[in-house]
Amino acid sequence: MDPFIDALLAKMTLEEKIGQLNLLTSGWDVTGPTMNEDYKDDIAAGKVGAVFNAFTASYTRSLQKIAVEQTRLGIPLLFGYDVIHGHRTIFPISLGEAASWDLAAIEAAARVAATEAAAEGVHWTFAPMVDIARDPRWGRISEGSGEDVYLSTQIATARVKGFQGEDLAALDTLLACAKHYAAYGQAQGGRDYHTTDMSERELWDTYLPPFQATVEAGVATLMTAFNDLNGVPTTGSAYLLDDILKTRWGFEGFVVTDYTSINEMVPHGFARDNRHATQLAINTGVDMDMQGAVFVDHLKALVLEGKVARDRIDAAARKILAMKYRLGLFDDPYRYMDEDRQQREIYKPENLQAARDMARKSMVLLKNADGLLPLRKNGLSLAVIGPLADSKADMIGSWAAAGDRHDKPVTLLEGIRAAVGDDTKVTYARGGGYEFDDTDRSGFADAMAIARTADVIILAMGEKWDMTGEAASRTSLDLPGTQPALMRALRELGKPMVLVLMNGRPLTINWAATEVDAILETWYAGTMGGFAIADVLFGDYNPSGKLPVTFPRSVGQIPLYYNMKNTGRPYDVNGVEQKYRSRYIDSPNTPLYPFGYGLSYTTFTYSEIRLDSAQMAAGGTLTASVTVTNSGARDGEEVVQLYVRDLVGSVTRPVRELKGFQKIMLKKGQSQTVTFALQPADLAFHRRDMSYGAEAGEFKLFIGGSSEAVKEADFTLLDTVVLRPAHSPQVRALPHYHSTRNPIASLTHE
Ligand code: BGC
Repeated sequence: MDPFIDALLAKMTLEEKIGQLNLLTSGWDVTGPTMNEDYKDDIAAGKVGAVFNAFTASYTRSLQKIAVEQTRLGIPLLFGYDVIHGHRTIFPISLGEAASWDLAAIEAAARVAATEAAAEGVHWTFAPMVDIARDPRWGRISEGSGEDVYLSTQIATARVKGFQGEDLAALDTLLACAKHYAAYGQAQGGRDYHTTDMSERELWDTYLPPFQATVEAGVATLMTAFNDLNGVPTTGSAYLLDDILKTRWGFEGFVVTDYTSINEMVPHGFARDNRHATQLAINTGVDMDMQGAVFVDHLKALVLEGKVARDRIDAAARKILAMKYRLGLFDDPYRYMDEDRQQREIYKPENLQAARDMARKSMVLLKNADGLLPLRKNGLSLAVIGPLADSKADMIGSWAAAGDRHDKPVTLLEGIRAAVGDDTKVTYARGGGYEFDDTDRSGFADAMAIARTADVIILAMGEKWDMTGEAASRTSLDLPGTQPALMRALRELGKPMVLVLMNGRPLTINWAATEVDAILETWYAGTMGGFAIADVLFGDYNPSGKLPVTFPRSVGQIPLYYNMKNTGRPYDVNGVEQKYRSRYIDSPNTPLYPFGYGLSYTTFTYSEIRLDSAQMAAGGTLTASVTVTNSGARDGEEVVQLYVRDLVGSVTRPVRELKGFQKIMLKKGQSQTVTFALQPADLAFHRRDMSYGAEAGEFKLFIGGSSEAVKEADFTLLDTVVLRPAHSPQVRALPHYHSTRNPIASLTHE
């Protein structure tokens, strides 16, 4: 590869190199993707290196033809797309997949998505989104894996492996892109694109680990974020892009910006104008400009003025050309564009089956009073009610790539009808609306009428599909529209009632949590959603999902996540009422449903924890075991979770931190011993001096079926183990920094 790229670069003009750094979107119209004619001219002029939002073999081929046949050097285009939770066959939204805690299934889902997308000419997905998110007001919480560092990190790695496979040159793999680097999920007030400001320790302990894991897993690309972090827009942050990503982590792929995020450094008040923004972005380590068109407009002049080194342009172009080479595009620019393969691969029965399987695994049973669920399939009268009960468009959620929203998705009503026996009567009424401004109650009467004669009411409520995702922040987490009123009216009938939730974020469903008999969280379950929900409702699948994110009681509790600090005045929920404690006077501190929580149709009991030793030495391993028994009447799966608490640290430590989990299948009555091995590295954090290590001292260890696991054991770490020496941001101010790889990336902000 290297000699090939050397030779190619030697032939390229400065403009042609800059063209490689330019990523433009294809436009869209009602019939599908189209590209603005000017862009086509830009491709022909060698000013475009990559295109996104273009897919199908024929359309990508038509654009590729322009690049190959009309440009001087015929360098092929790279095609990117947001293939997040499926390409055509849509899987549950990412947060839903995370609720499965099933890494193999998550990897397999990404594999299917890659296979379908690659068959339609796509080379590169803008996924996985690995932003830790602890604020459900932020609509993009739906795109990630929730609030926890450990779980999110494991899932990030699984997704990279699933998308990229073993070999980037294979025809069924995609380049992955870890996004949004970094800390985007902490947007203040949960308002999208808003400021993030946090301690270095919080950044390193909570927000960076999933990114680092994707780099270690060989992720091909990284995307910068829209936010500023501690005063510096991430797209112009030498600290993030140069110091951490390239120098410390040794990332060898290329860095793309988020959509026009270079240009946005101007309104951020960080760059004087687009030219200044361009200079800051390229010099800090951005390789590709998404949709801002500022690299093509300004880089040449900046190079001629001596503000950007020619080497820097070469380095960026080299990285992008290397990815094209690794995909095999220089051998055959059209190798991914094959109508027959496209025909064979998309919506394959195996893909649909995988989507149904993943959807079942993602569902979380939040409540099941008196074992109302599972329902029997025969001899019942079921009233299926709610704005989401028969909605195809909503079923696949936001960021659903090329997924069909009109015909393919199986609605809940369809899923129920397909599941039940002939002697079960299924009636349907939409009942109410889910738009924020819906007030019309004229549909209530129909809903009440069918409910009156039913044995069980099944409500499908939640959020409209586009209420989560990008630019979908909310200040309230209540069910929108007339849904709460409809639910209350129906409750008056005193019938058994099941609430099937479809939503992309935790909702404040306190009333339902008390009043409704059973609640099943189904997120947006994807193309096969209706079948999958029916599988769970009628017991063909025993729910096994666990929440990857805390459900608060109210917006006022946010941020609320399980691994908070204890404070100097912890409030003891079981103790006597005390005023001067860290608490609210109008609400409990506890969540409505905690992280890691989820019920099953069976029950699991845990033995006491057995440790092989009460002490761990540097270089040693401690094993913790429990015996888990399926003590209920059905076969089922349980996610066995291990948490630790470091009792005293050089900085305060969270009350619990997830450090391991295993998903096991147990037949009814069956027991299994589950063993976890812990090493000092598992106990490491950024210490007082910002070194990374585990500190000698006392620890508690908890194992159970949620973050509120009650079985506990104690152990001692005998030695402090430092895994990485201290590094602080100030390191950049030291003189040696300026003599490193990129002399122009100075702190002068010029
Ligand atoms: C989003 C990214 C996405 C990009 C391209 C942006 O608005 O923040 O996540 O990959 O658009 O569609």
